[in-house]
Amino acid sequence: MNLEGARVIAVRDAKTVYLDGETNSAVKVFERSYAKAGILNEALNHAIIEETALPVPALKSVETIDGKWAIATEYIPGKTLAQLMAEDADNLELYLDMLIEVQMDIHDARAPRLSRLKDKMYQKIQQADIDAATRYEIHHRLASTPAHNKVCHGDLNPTNIIIDDAGRPFVLDWAHVTQGNASADAARTYLLFRLAGDEETADKYMDMFCEKTSTNKRYVQQWLPIVAVSQSVKGKPQEREFLLSWASVFEYE
Ligand SMILES: Nc1ncnc2c1ncn2[C@@H]1O[C@H](COP(=O)(O)OP(=O)(O)O)[C@@H](O)[C@H]1O
Ligand SMILES: [Mg+2]
Repeated sequence: MNLEGARVIAVRDAKTVYLDGETNSAVKVFERSYAKAGILNEALNHAIIEETALPVPALKSVETIDGKWAIATEYIPGKTLAQLMAEDADNLELYLDMLIEVQMDIHDARAPRLSRLKDKMYQKIQQADIDAATRYEIHHRLASTPAHNKVCHGDLNPTNIIIDDAGRPFVLDWAHVTQGNASADAARTYLLFRLAGDEETADKYMDMFCEKTSTNKRYVQQWLPIVAVSQSVKGKPQEREFLLSWASVFEYE
């Protein structure tokens, strides 16, 4: 694959996504600093999800381009939910509703080959920069959550959903998908809105998710410290501080 002349559609810290018009592909190119195993795992997760009925762009290739690993998927013409929310702020609830509908479909799916959310979190909590008493408490809380096997996207936020030109949603970015508890996945989405500095949208999302799924808000809230600590491990320094401030937020119980 040759990306000369390809249009850049997104730039992140150590990743760039191109539109290759010739093959109609979105090509996500990772900087050399990225661990190869992480990139191949993202591609494998994507392929596993493609075997479910969920709406995802087809995985087309995994290759190196000028010595950098790249994952190519079918390009979906349309707008991300993030773009739609920014352009049409009056309809925030409509877009949150779309996000939650997509998330509910994801939670209805099953993919037994995926890693388990609780295993992944256990390891992350092990590595987190917290004192021994807090680590013990968080591990204990994780261990006492029920064992579920729902597909959890793990990074569901409005930039990872594209609404195509016919109005159909497609879900991108399966790097963090696991099988486990839907409430943990909702807590993750809530924290992603909070990390983006949007407390109002975060709270609205939480209310709407709980209402639409008939979930007691406490089930989601009890995951917040666990998910925040897990997430602090790889985050940016300023995010880490914010996430660790959730480590001992237990007062809603
Ligand atoms: N298959 C695709 N079709 C259209 N746009 C895409 C596709 N894949 C990625 N993008 C665009 O690139 C952005 C970043 O891609 P994503 O896979 O979410 O990478 P990251 O891991 O950096 O978040 C998305 O928000 C979307 O705008
Ligand atoms: Mg993304």
